[in-house]
Amino acid sequence: MGLGVANLADAREFYEKHWQLEVVDADDDRLYLGAACPESHVLRLRATDQPRVDLISLAADTQADVDGVAERVARHPLARMVAQPATRQDLGGGYGLRFLDCDGRTVEVATEVVGRAFEPVRAADSRPKTISHVVFNTPDLTATRTFYESVLGFKVSDWVEDFFCFMRTGKAHHILAFTRSAHASLNHVAFEVHGLDEFMRATGGMMRRGFQPVWGPGRHGVGNNTFSYFQDPSSGFVMEYTTELQLIDDEHGWVPKVYPANDIDRWGTANELDDAVRSLMRGRPDPGLWAPPPV
Ligand SMILES: [Fe+2]
Repeated sequence: MGLGVANLADAREFYEKHWQLEVVDADDDRLYLGAACPESHVLRLRATDQPRVDLISLAADTQADVDGVAERVARHPLARMVAQPATRQDLGGGYGLRFLDCDGRTVEVATEVVGRAFEPVRAADSRPKTISHVVFNTPDLTATRTFYESVLGFKVSDWVEDFFCFMRTGKAHHILAFTRSAHASLNHVAFEVHGLDEFMRATGGMMRRGFQPVWGPGRHGVGNNTFSYFQDPSSGFVMEYTTELQLIDDEHGWVPKVYPANDIDRWGTANELDDAVRSLMRGRPDPGLWAPPPV
């Protein structure tokens, strides 16, 4: 995931010191943060005038898979190629392409990105293990859903009524989700921690450092994952700690279900999802749309 932030030093304080990611590389205007996983990095922060989404980064298995995405991008009337499949020029190298989706978000699909040595999470270690999922607001949910189905092979896992669509490419219930909104923007980025104990430690660690959850802790109905949402004060973006996201085994068949809008807090522990919380997750119209990052 790539985000533009107005103040790189402030953002570093939040994501390194408080959110417990690890700085793995940096240059004058970019900061690369890793989690407790072999991925080269899970979050790239870039100094920009205003907070923006820079990149959605997705992994492909093979170069042929990357080339297949390029062919589908070329055929799709709403997709725009940014960079044809080639050697990737960012940290970790590899082979990838970039394109704009139907709302103008920059999507990168890459393979053979070089990983790194990392310190695995053990019991009671509340550091994030990886990005679990990312949720976006979109003005045209049908167009966005069908775009990700046809260009990238995503499948619908479940819905909340007709306004929130959860999508997967593998066993995880969702790695991307989209919700209908007046404008396209980032809703939140979720980081997976090891288990329930580590989830509560991560949540409590933030609280002890002076950050109140904007929503949570709790457990969602759809996807069954736990949630504690916090706002990064440096950018306004909302981040989530989560664990125990439902796994789907396609071999046994899966029929998407429609959840009611009020089935969002199964433990009954979370604060109300009120207008103030919704407003934080709605965010501002994203200045990163139709404007791929220069690097
Ligand atoms: Fe989430």
